Amino acid sequence: MIELSGVTKVFNPGRPDEVPAVAAGDLRVGAGEFVSLIGPSGCGKSTLLRLIADLLPPTAGTVTVAGKPAAQARKERRYGMVFQKAGLFDWRTVRRNVELPLELRGTGRSERRARAQEMLELVGLSDFAGHYPAQLSGGMQQRVSIARALADAPPLLLMDEPFGALDEMTRERLQGELLRICAATGTTVVFVTHSIDEAVFLSGRVVVMSARPGRVTEVVEIPLGERNEAVRQAPEFFEAVTEVRRALRAPKSEEAPEAAESPKNTSVPAQLEAS
Ligand SMILES: Nc1ncnc2c1ncn2[C@@H]1O[C@H](COP(=O)(O)OP(=O)(O)OP(=O)(O)O)[C@@H](O)[C@H]1O
Ligand SMILES: [Mg+2]
Repeated sequence: MIELSGVTKVFNPGRPDEVPAVAAGDLRVGAGEFVSLIGPSGCGKSTLLRLIADLLPPTAGTVTVAGKPAAQARKERRYGMVFQKAGLFDWRTVRRNVELPLELRGTGRSERRARAQEMLELVGLSDFAGHYPAQLSGGMQQRVSIARALADAPPLLLMDEPFGALDEMTRERLQGELLRICAATGTTVVFVTHSIDEAVFLSGRVVVMSARPGRVTEVVEIPLGERNEAVRQAPEFFEAVTEVRRALRAPKSEEAPEAAESPKNTSVPAQLEAS
């Protein structure tokens, strides 16, 4: 579904304010996979999502989505995106914000209404359909933006800390709902989070990035099988959390001296095949 090949991003190259933001290298995400990106603040996670979404051009390398250049995938609206900030249109009601992707697709009015209603129920905001974004709390606005991203059932979802502003109970409920929807529709998800627990609960693989310029230092497989609330208490869950925490502190590629000497491993972004 996603293929990054030799991707780097440098902001303002050649200027005094030049920032080498991402050296993601090669990364592949298979159709139907749920992959999380985790790493310290400023390591380039949002930038990486924007590169996949073709909201930024890479400085080097190529991005392919569903076998097509990222720009074409964007034109064909192959993905939905939830940003770190809700990014709603202030002059549109909650309902009409959620309807927007369907409007852009030319979906008829009654179908749009029904679908928006369904999505708003999912995020627990059906009573606020007629409100304007400024009348909602930050977390409620973020839930509207999640409803909007899901409204036209895109094959790929790019989510940037979508649950960061939510209370723990709402967050856990939406995590469960998101997994349910993705499993039912075969949606591929790339999910940015600062929470190790969240990354482990949601993902098949967790991509661990280092500080700026963000490199993929390790990819941790999460062998947890089907997710339900009991998984959060399972010993395997805590083992996976420990493993991701270890990868964030001391990635294997920096630990193993023989490996670090081999030229294959010195350029940290190893070839990351979809499982
Ligand atoms: N438009 C831009 N122009 C210049 N530099 C930028 C721009 N956007 C991001 N950067 C820089 O790129 C680096 C990576 O930023 P990015 O937003 O991707 O980090 P992040 O991993 O998402 O951080 P956080 O976890 O805090 O959201 C930062 O050093 C930031 O200053
Ligand atoms: Mg970010």
